[in-house]
Amino acid sequence: MHDTRIPIDIPSHPTALVVGEGLVARLSDAFAREGIALSNRRVLIVVDEAIASNHGAHAFDSIRAGGAHVAMATVAARESEKTMPAIERIWSAALAHGLDRRGLMVAVGGGLTGDVAGFAAATYMRGIDFVQIPTTLLAMVDASIGGKTGVNLALPGGGLGKNLAGSFWQPKATFADPEVLATLSPRELRSGLAECVKHAVLDGEARLSAMERDAELLASGDRAALARLIPESAAIKARIVAADPYERGVRATLNFGHTFGHAIETLPEVDLLHGEAVAIGMVAASAAAEAWPGCTSVPMTARLCKLLTRLSLPTSLSGTRVGAILPSAHLEIRRRMGFDKKNEGGGLRLILPRAAGDVFVAANAPEAAVDAGLRAIL
Ligand SMILES: NC(=O)c1ccc[n+]([C@@H]2O[C@H](COP(=O)([O-])OP(=O)(O)OC[C@H]3O[C@@H](n4cnc5c(N)ncnc54)[C@H](O)[C@@H]3O)[C@@H](O)[C@H]2O)c1
Repeated sequence: MHDTRIPIDIPSHPTALVVGEGLVARLSDAFAREGIALSNRRVLIVVDEAIASNHGAHAFDSIRAGGAHVAMATVAARESEKTMPAIERIWSAALAHGLDRRGLMVAVGGGLTGDVAGFAAATYMRGIDFVQIPTTLLAMVDASIGGKTGVNLALPGGGLGKNLAGSFWQPKATFADPEVLATLSPRELRSGLAECVKHAVLDGEARLSAMERDAELLASGDRAALARLIPESAAIKARIVAADPYERGVRATLNFGHTFGHAIETLPEVDLLHGEAVAIGMVAASAAAEAWPGCTSVPMTARLCKLLTRLSLPTSLSGTRVGAILPSAHLEIRRRMGFDKKNEGGGLRLILPRAAGDVFVAANAPEAAVDAGLRAIL
């Protein structure tokens, strides 16, 4: 069996992403190769309740085969449930299973499960070992890499603020098994493709052209095209995270599309998956860049819209119920953007593309550029 191992060289927390078909069935060997002990160890698997009976049960058996004492706790993969009570339930399950500071928490699920389980692991007994087993495309190429964990918070004035409480907590290792994607819905798969587009834009012309070449194959879930894409896209994130683990510089560019995206994702009038909101957010950010004098000489918006459309991803909010609350939608999205974690001193910080491979952090973005971004998607 050929696995691809991508080292993530974070100083003092080196870790790795291992991608391989059938990995979930051979986790005890995979853990051993990464130096993660299982024999006689107490392990809590935190699994998305929707996949507990298939992928969760397989992971359970395969980890128990390594000699661990394993228990399972479930989470509901809904943004409204990605809150502190979910963390408390995991802490209680860990206590009930007798996890001490040598214990291990293993997340089996998409990005939401990984974020919640990771935050629980980071805070249980001031931090215990953690392993990620991502089961969505989005989590394989993005959310399971880089150690960001956390939950949503209720905003003053209403609504949920995305990932406003959390911590950096690197997993000991991440094991991505593309076979588990067979049960993922086509819409969720395409949502993950949005983050791959983001990585391609950050990386440069060669990767963006490769995605354009394979767009229809990827949108249809072609296994060979996905097998090429997953390690390549994940490696882009791994490289950026290793260069700037605590987001003091270049890592902020991974938020391309997320300032607008997070603000629209939790609007009650829209029913968008995370990647779909990011797709629309990337269009808004590109339009904002084009409206900013001197910012870009290579208009990206039309090219991005074309690629996202070929991937069956949305490029605007038309088709959602946001039309019913216009023009207040503009104001409401702008209000929510004001709570973004990247903001400093009251000014918005936007991640704007000048060209493929040239994305920068724009502090104190002028309102005219923000407006142009919002107009492009409303
Ligand atoms: N930590 C990070 O760096 C980071 C990066 C990007 C996104 N995120 C977070 O990740 C979340 C989005 O992640 P996601 O898109 O993976 O969503 P998710 O975890 O909510 O999963 C999406 C849906 O797929 C289902 N599912 C998961 N795996 C499945 C499988 N193999 N078969 C069938 N169904 C399956 C889930 O039950 C859920 O309904 C958001 O909360 C976002 O904030 C975190």
